[in-house]
Amino acid sequence: MELLRKLSEAAGIPGHEEGVRTIARTALKGHVDTIEVDRLGNLIAHKKGRGPKVVVAGHMDEIGFIVSHVDEETGFLRIEPVGGFDPRTLIASRVTVHAAGGALIGLIGTKPIHILTEDEKRKELRVQDLFVDLGLPGKAVAKKVRMGDPVTLVQSFTRVGKLLSGKALDDRLGVYVGIEAMRRLKTHQADVYFVGTVQEEVGLRGARTSAFAINPDIGVALDVTLACDMPGVSAHEQVTKLGKGAAIKLKDSASISHPGLVRFLVDLAEAKKIPYQMEILPRGGTDAGAIQLAREGAAVVTLSVPTRYVHSVVEAAHVDDIEATIKLLTAFLEACHKADLRL
Ligand code: CO
Ligand code: ZN
Repeated sequence: MELLRKLSEAAGIPGHEEGVRTIARTALKGHVDTIEVDRLGNLIAHKKGRGPKVVVAGHMDEIGFIVSHVDEETGFLRIEPVGGFDPRTLIASRVTVHAAGGALIGLIGTKPIHILTEDEKRKELRVQDLFVDLGLPGKAVAKKVRMGDPVTLVQSFTRVGKLLSGKALDDRLGVYVGIEAMRRLKTHQADVYFVGTVQEEVGLRGARTSAFAINPDIGVALDVTLACDMPGVSAHEQVTKLGKGAAIKLKDSASISHPGLVRFLVDLAEAKKIPYQMEILPRGGTDAGAIQLAREGAAVVTLSVPTRYVHSVVEAAHVDDIEATIKLLTAFLEACHKADLRL
């Protein structure tokens, strides 16, 4: 899990994925025929085959912020979100401000409860109200920090019981699963591309351009999905459950999975005794949404790793589900030339 730890702890807000890309590139070296980076920053690794052409995509970016204002008097920073954090999960956390001259640690603090008025206690928290404290005088901050500098949450990767927890498991888990499958994949007829995509969290942008360039027959997005098997959520709203296997997506708000691919994956999981569950995500989407609409269109499906507390820095996934997803993806790439995709 050393690779997953590195991926999780690396910083990579949309448009600034270089740290993650370097780790992924190193991990893929020797396991694929070619590795390229396109103009948007997508990492495109190719394992040649006769066909069909398959794109496997996992997004390298994570939700975070950019510095939107530096107060030269007080030294406090204001931040603009790139991707959707729940502001309630941000109070009382440490952040890294990735300034040109080096990373700085900052604090997202808040007024102590002792001095909050009743009105303030009830008020909904907005990201615009948050500020970052670098513990430095205004002049020093103004010298070091620029508008636009990336800001990411600080969180170490850790094991919690049967779970692995950390920041940015959305979607470093997908990147990890994709890399592991590339390493394990030996015999395949499919022409396989693994793409570490950029800017998914702000609108599936890297998937759009890379799928246009590759023009695949089949697209498999790798992403986390909600596991809301927790107190206060009734069974029909849980989406997935931890420990119940890889999730095969039927639909979300960006794509409807190709029925032929869904059937093929279910049969494959049954035949290979790989634990799986079906998934419908009521809101949100994955790179499959962009791949599906590339050029004349592609047959797509999303393989998801069930994850609790998505879009917070305590995201957590079950070790067995991660392994099941890698196994199912590898088996799929070995056999997908036999899939019947007629509608
Ligand atoms: Co996300
Ligand atoms: Zn994601």
